[in-house]
Amino acid sequence: MIRLGVNIDHVATLRNARGGIHPDPVGAARLAIEAGADGITAHLREDRRHINDDDMARLQALCLELGKPLNFEMAAVDDMAEIALATKPHAVCLVPEKREERTTEGGLDAAGLHNQITPIARALSENGSRVSLFIEAVPHQITASEACGAQVVEFHTGAYAHALDAGDADKAEALLSAMRKGAKQADALGLEVHFGHGLTFDNVTPVAAISEAKELNIGHFIIGEAITMGLKPAIQEMRRLISESRIVPK
Ligand code: PXP
Repeated sequence: MIRLGVNIDHVATLRNARGGIHPDPVGAARLAIEAGADGITAHLREDRRHINDDDMARLQALCLELGKPLNFEMAAVDDMAEIALATKPHAVCLVPEKREERTTEGGLDAAGLHNQITPIARALSENGSRVSLFIEAVPHQITASEACGAQVVEFHTGAYAHALDAGDADKAEALLSAMRKGAKQADALGLEVHFGHGLTFDNVTPVAAISEAKELNIGHFIIGEAITMGLKPAIQEMRRLISESRIVPK
C-alpha cells in the first residue's frame, strides 16, 4: 500500500509566529499517526524558520516510540549532515534550499551537485538512514540520483500543482506524464519512488495512481485543512483518496 508521510513543519510555523511553545509539532505528529499517517516528515531548514533542532530530536524519539519512520528533510550541507547523523532517522531527504525562497522551489540538481551530495549520501546510508533526493522527474536527474548513491527519489509535484491551480490542464497532464515515465525509469534503476509538494484533495489522485509510487509526503494543505476540518479528519480524507486511487474500476 502507498504510504502517507505527513509533513509537520507548518505546525511549527504557527508556533514560531508567537515565539512560544504552542502549538507543539510533536503533539501534532502523534495525532497524525493516530489518524493514519504512515510516517512523519519534517524539514530542518538552515534558518530554522519552522522546525528547530529540539523538535527534530523529539520527533525522532516519538517515531521510535510509535515504531513509525521519520523522514528528515535537509539541505545537502555538512553541518546538517552532522545533525542527521546524530539523529539517525529512518530516512533523510536531501532538498535544495535557498534562504530567500518561501518554500522548496524546484528539485535538487543531483547531476550538477554530484560531488557535494555523494559523500553526504554515503555517510547517511552507512549510518542506517535511507537517502532520498528531491528532484524533478527528468531523466538525467534520475540517473544522477542513482549515481549519487540514493536509494529513493522524491519527485517534486509543485509545478504540476501550480499548473492545475492556474487552470492549465495541458501542462499539468504533460508534467504528470513526465512523472509517470520518470517513475518507471527510477523503478528500473532500483530506486524507490516518492512524490511531494503542493498536493491537495483535488490534485492527489492522479499522482497516487502512479503504480510505482510508494510514498507521498504532504504538509501545507493538510495543516491548513486542520484549521477548518481538524487534523485527524484531514489526514483520514487524504488517506481515503490515496487508497481509492489504487482501486481499478471493474
Ligand atoms: N516533500 C518535500 C521534499 C518537501 O520539501 C516538502 C515541503 O517542504 C513536501 C514534501 C511537502 O510539501 P507541501 O507542504 O507543499 O505539502
